[in-house]
Amino acid sequence: MKKHIITNGPTKLKGSVTASGSKNASLPIIAACLLFQSTVKLNNIARLKDISVLLGLLASLNVKLSFDSDGITLDTSDVKNISLDQKQASLIRGSVLILGPLLARFHRVVLPMPGGCKIGKRPIDFHLKAMEQLGATIVYEEDRVIASAANGLIAGNITFPLPSVTATENALMAASLAPGVSTIENGSVDSEVLELVAFLKEAGVRIDIKGSTFIIQGHCAPLTKEVQFSIMSDRMEVGTWIAAAGITRSHISVKYLRLRQLETVIEHAREVGIKIEQKNHYLSIDATGPLQAKSIKTGFEPEFPTDLQAPFAALNAASDGTWFIEETIWENRFDHIKQFKNLGVEHLLISGQKCQYLNQSASTIRSGTTTGKDLRGTCSLLLLSLKPKGSSTLIDSQHIERGYENFIEKLNSLGASIKQYPNSFQKLEYNKVMGSNKMQVS
Ligand code: EPU
Repeated sequence: MKKHIITNGPTKLKGSVTASGSKNASLPIIAACLLFQSTVKLNNIARLKDISVLLGLLASLNVKLSFDSDGITLDTSDVKNISLDQKQASLIRGSVLILGPLLARFHRVVLPMPGGCKIGKRPIDFHLKAMEQLGATIVYEEDRVIASAANGLIAGNITFPLPSVTATENALMAASLAPGVSTIENGSVDSEVLELVAFLKEAGVRIDIKGSTFIIQGHCAPLTKEVQFSIMSDRMEVGTWIAAAGITRSHISVKYLRLRQLETVIEHAREVGIKIEQKNHYLSIDATGPLQAKSIKTGFEPEFPTDLQAPFAALNAASDGTWFIEETIWENRFDHIKQFKNLGVEHLLISGQKCQYLNQSASTIRSGTTTGKDLRGTCSLLLLSLKPKGSSTLIDSQHIERGYENFIEKLNSLGASIKQYPNSFQKLEYNKVMGSNKMQVS
């Protein structure tokens, strides 16, 4: 549903928020439940659009889902269908994560081409080649692929040209049920991948990691251990709160359950002038002192994450100085920067995957109307519109709900004045997507 937001600035944030469970760690771990013939309890799952779509896809495969206040229980003992709904699968990139586990367990998958934010070409060739290395045959049809391995997958050696996050996750899941020892070379060691590895190990899969090489001892039969697992906090949300505090020159604190790699971002923010302290699962973020814009070059972990490029571009736009961004992961992740102009950011130069601001001054930011195009970019437009005096409108704000749980409610609880139209509650999404009144999320 299309939504829009009206903010009233200037905004000063104050208080504490709790970071939700990680979106990009939850998606592969939910998909990995298809490797089990038992029940799995997942705690700290965020109520997000992308996650509800994936859960809806699993429900359509006959996975039984039940919710309580802590999380979700998935019972995969009676999965029947191996075809994914074209329309639902094309809504999210995460639908590709069903390929590996479903193929490993049922030896055949009909996968519609996945969707997701329009931030680049987003091919799935690495995923498909990895499945071929594990013995699958791939047939390409218009808008879908059929992957099959009549006698089941077999262990193999996979080498990725680039350390793709979801392709590494797919390969790890598939190799978990490919009997024998598989290796994945040049895999992604991003925090979200390591969280999936922790989950698979908890389920009894032996995985060793040496640098960017994974060694997996595949099982011959579906996993049967009854596992309970709490998903780590969303480090991209925590990073976004750092940018939010900086843009509004505020002092806030963020509570988290577990973070893996955020040091690069914290170091970057400190160099901008934000004081950050980490103690007892709280991050104290003090951005009340002078801030200076700092250039960004995104890269694979442990470099600066592409998913925080947009919020930190907004932080730069709200600071003084000349700065530069190089986006090395996605070809088309600057839509938000083009929109910054509508909030008074002048002197911008964009060329391919690079952009530059000359003589930026925080004082030029003014209220205005912007339009969101993708998850992180839309969030950065909301954050920047908190700064100037007056009322700003953000059209197509619904993108934020794909990846940030109750973000507007959280901002308002810290003192922002944001109204969303229409004002439907995000927590109803699970019921809506799966069309069952029994699947209540409290
Ligand atoms: N690539 C290929 N072929 C493939 C797969 C990837 O050429 O088969 C290329 C991509 O075009 C890109 C690079 O490899 O240039 C890296 O892409 P990657 O596969 O790592 O991205 P992804 O797995 O599709 C995940 C996150 C993204 C995040 C990227 C990079 C999920 C569901 N998505 O995407 O998150 O930007 O890793 O860290 O985990 C977001 O949350 O806003 C988001 C876009």
